[in-house]
Amino acid sequence: MTPQDHIDQLFWWYFEKQLFTFFASERNNPSVNETLRTFKTAKEVAVRYSWNEDATLRFLRALGALGYLAEHNGYFKAVEKQLLRLSSSQTRAVNWFAAVPSLSEETSLFTESVPTLETLSRHCGAHSAPDFVKAAAHAQDTDALIGLAYDQFIVARFFTEHVLEATLREGRSQVQRALGLPSQQIFDHYGAHDSFLQLYSASFSFSNSAANAFVAEQVRFQENEFVLDVGGGAGGLCRAILNQQPNLNFAIYDHPNSARSIIAAQNMLRIELPTVRRAYGDFFNDTHGGLHGIDPDDRYAKIFLGWILHDWSDEQCVAILRRCGHHLQPTGTIYILEKVITNTVTNSRAILLDFLMLSMADGQERKLDEYKAICEKADLRIGFCITNPGRGRDIIGVEKG
Ligand SMILES: C[S@@+](CC[C@H](N)C(=O)[O-])C[C@H]1O[C@@H](n2cnc3c(N)ncnc32)[C@H](O)[C@@H]1O
Repeated sequence: MTPQDHIDQLFWWYFEKQLFTFFASERNNPSVNETLRTFKTAKEVAVRYSWNEDATLRFLRALGALGYLAEHNGYFKAVEKQLLRLSSSQTRAVNWFAAVPSLSEETSLFTESVPTLETLSRHCGAHSAPDFVKAAAHAQDTDALIGLAYDQFIVARFFTEHVLEATLREGRSQVQRALGLPSQQIFDHYGAHDSFLQLYSASFSFSNSAANAFVAEQVRFQENEFVLDVGGGAGGLCRAILNQQPNLNFAIYDHPNSARSIIAAQNMLRIELPTVRRAYGDFFNDTHGGLHGIDPDDRYAKIFLGWILHDWSDEQCVAILRRCGHHLQPTGTIYILEKVITNTVTNSRAILLDFLMLSMADGQERKLDEYKAICEKADLRIGFCITNPGRGRDIIGVEKG
């Protein structure tokens, strides 16, 4: 396993343990046992706990993807064997959580001036949980430590039992509760706290590197063509693509509030992109029909949207896609990079991400049909979809309608 796989696994392990701990504590209540002993619909479970029905369905699906619940035609039932196995490891989980920094420590890490690598390393090293320490030691490099620190803080913040319960009850993101601002402004928050955005951008570039390599291998680039990465952050995808085809007119577009931190993250990850143009603007700002901050006459052969649409509502996605469509050459392609929800049980990554997006950004993972519908509303159409056989993102190719 590579260091990156190791960290990736830790992320999901942490997420899984949070879901489970919440579920298990409920399970100590005898009526819960009874609730899920026989197959129940999400609606029945939602009524039983006074939870939001949509959020309940997404939560039960996530537990199903993790193997704790069996699902049959929209009905869910506990997999007793799995639960027993996990119950016996609950003490271990509780001890493990005790080792996660308290919210006050997290808060200082999010808001203090840019943390040094020493601070982050110390923070990771401070964990008594042997798995974390082992991972940090195993990784042995800066990128891995940053990825590790980020994963642990972001997930720690959003998956406390309290936040999880509130997400289920209210059926919406708990950004307001965790950060004190509307979920729509989550990226403004990142921008306002350099240290956090730097970590965030760095971690995205880092933790996506296998997925970025997949994109660079699958997409054919013509020499000198114009390529735009919308919301491209520190440039991880750009770096992977330029490794394959160095002669491109590549531009990365992102929010102006993120600019300073993105550059800091780029320095931290030693990403050097001397030939790449940076453009800044707000993709929700409608100035000339295209992307705010980009010349209205600029046209690109390829436009990437990597892990952008899953943060936003259908209406917002249509607006972003329409503006990208404005800058697309007539035969160009927009590449939506997301994990697509399929009906196969093995597609657990998308289902887990879906619940993560709900609680973090009021976002969602979508099925291909749902992408088709939002593309059509933006006068675009899906030409192809390349499924990533690994855990990374799938590639949806979108053309002018
Ligand atoms: C989830 S990250 C994805 C980063 C990168 N594309 C990747 O796949 O690793 C979302 C990116 O969108 C940018 N972003 C968020 N809101 C934006 C807006 N309104 N206009 C432009 N960029 C925005 C953020 O700064 C961030 O870099």
